[in-house]
Amino acid sequence: MAKSKMQAYISVPAQIISSLSSSSLQSLLVSPNKSPMKKKPLWKRPMFWFLCFVLCFSLAILKIGFLWFLCSFLHQDSSLTNGFVTKIENNGGFSKKVEEKQELSGFWEQPDGLGYRPCLDFTREYNKWSKENAKDRTKYLMVVVTGGMNQQRNQIVDAVVIARILGAALVVPNLQVNVIWGDESEFSDIFDLDHFKKVLANDVRIVSSLPSAHLMSRPVEERRMPVNVTPQWLRANYLRKFKGDGVILLRGLESKLSKDLPSDLQKLRCKVAFQALKFAAPILELGNKITERMRSKGPYLALHLRMEQDVWVRTGCLPGLTPDYDEIIRNERKLRPWLLTSKSNMTYNERKLAGLCPLNALDVTRLLKALGAPKNAGIYWAGGNPLGGKDALLPLLREFPNFYNKQDLALPGELEPYANKASFMAAIDYIVAENSDVFMPSHGGNMGHALQGQRACAGHKKHITPNKRLTLPYFLNNSLPEAEFNQIVMGLHRDSLGQPELRTSKAGRAVTKYPVPECMCNDRNSHTSS
Ligand SMILES: *[C@@H]1O[C@H](CO)[C@@H](O)[C@H](O)[C@H]1NC(C)=O
Ligand SMILES: *[C@@H]1O[C@H](CO)[C@@H](O)[C@H](O)[C@H]1NC(C)=O
Repeated sequence: MAKSKMQAYISVPAQIISSLSSSSLQSLLVSPNKSPMKKKPLWKRPMFWFLCFVLCFSLAILKIGFLWFLCSFLHQDSSLTNGFVTKIENNGGFSKKVEEKQELSGFWEQPDGLGYRPCLDFTREYNKWSKENAKDRTKYLMVVVTGGMNQQRNQIVDAVVIARILGAALVVPNLQVNVIWGDESEFSDIFDLDHFKKVLANDVRIVSSLPSAHLMSRPVEERRMPVNVTPQWLRANYLRKFKGDGVILLRGLESKLSKDLPSDLQKLRCKVAFQALKFAAPILELGNKITERMRSKGPYLALHLRMEQDVWVRTGCLPGLTPDYDEIIRNERKLRPWLLTSKSNMTYNERKLAGLCPLNALDVTRLLKALGAPKNAGIYWAGGNPLGGKDALLPLLREFPNFYNKQDLALPGELEPYANKASFMAAIDYIVAENSDVFMPSHGGNMGHALQGQRACAGHKKHITPNKRLTLPYFLNNSLPEAEFNQIVMGLHRDSLGQPELRTSKAGRAVTKYPVPECMCNDRNSHTSS
């Protein structure tokens, strides 16, 4: 009895409290739905509108801009909910962040991909031919691919297409031991071989080694292929060479196959480059780990810096450090003149003005600042040790302190097993750069080429191509105020941010760099895919 009396006694003030509080601002905002009064809808009570007014007014003092939003919100949805409160609070907190982000957002903004998506629908003839050809056991193509990992990658793409053109089975490509790097990795150390075979099963038969019937005969080494080779040329010159042994061996594939092939073969190039060539599991695992460590710091830019000694020697350019370093490069060039690639009669300045020199750290810093990279931008830099060591990177480090490479991000011992495996290291850089928000190479090259196509396929992720020739006069003009310099440089790069570009709009473009129109379509041009 005493208990129920107590309850009854307590229940009276509780009701009073709840009815009182339901008309208070606090309760209106926090839990109005729980109010037991249902006599009049909330929005018909004058008190409600008074409170709304007070609320709007006080918030307006905090942030004038939200008054309009708030009141229009009230008119649209006059039932008060908990969501209402959180909405106000969220927006209040958000406004500061928006202001902070405003200056950063421009740099991380992605180009308009114009709705282009990968489309690799092969023609019926292509697929029919695949089925018939799968039975052939008389032709085997062996290839040796050379250079660094990215260079080898491009040659593997063309090797698959050549095998397809010749109707031959492709023996898993041999990666030639690199003279400079001494990396003895084999195909399956770098790439996922099972995946490669599986993805290309309907395009080209891929075998791990020559069948025993063909092993006895020694493969005949071909002379160097001419440039711009067409499918017709390949069939006319190579098909009969299978007659004896059934095997031919090709090397020196670099840029030999024509950039302009029938649409199906262009699609095959894309299929190899963007689908079949997946890195081997241990590489992917470590690459993804390093990506996550980079990503945990926020959005990031991947920079491919080409500042190694051999790059300065080969390009005939100078590193822009001290005269001592210029002397090192000049001596090296005198000792090994064959290293210097074409146009050797141009002076250093002529080369630089022609846009043929890699950007040094100071150039890259100024370029990035002009393009709006915020000071707190995370930067992952890919590439080998620069001439001059860490000092050569100082201009970048001073402007962008969040500056890391794979060695900085790896845990002790993580990279050690691969210290002498340049291809493994290049693959790690590739993965982190592929996953970046923005990518920029300091000089052209195979990595930039491969990534440009890959990032296009992923929806035209921002890829800055420095316009060296046009910007250099401004780099050299010391009387140009910084604001003006930035504006000019920004203008010169408006169309060099990785937007979709038609491969066919300029001669000599590779489909693995410009996948539109053969390998990517949007609703507007989907007819070109047939
Ligand atoms: C460099 O050599 C080429 C021919 O090899 C010539 O056409 C060109 O004019 C030369 N350039 C200079 C700057 O001497
Ligand atoms: C450098 O920039 C200034 C300011 O825009 C301009 O007046 C001057 O002509 C430029 N000098 C050269 C060599 O282009």
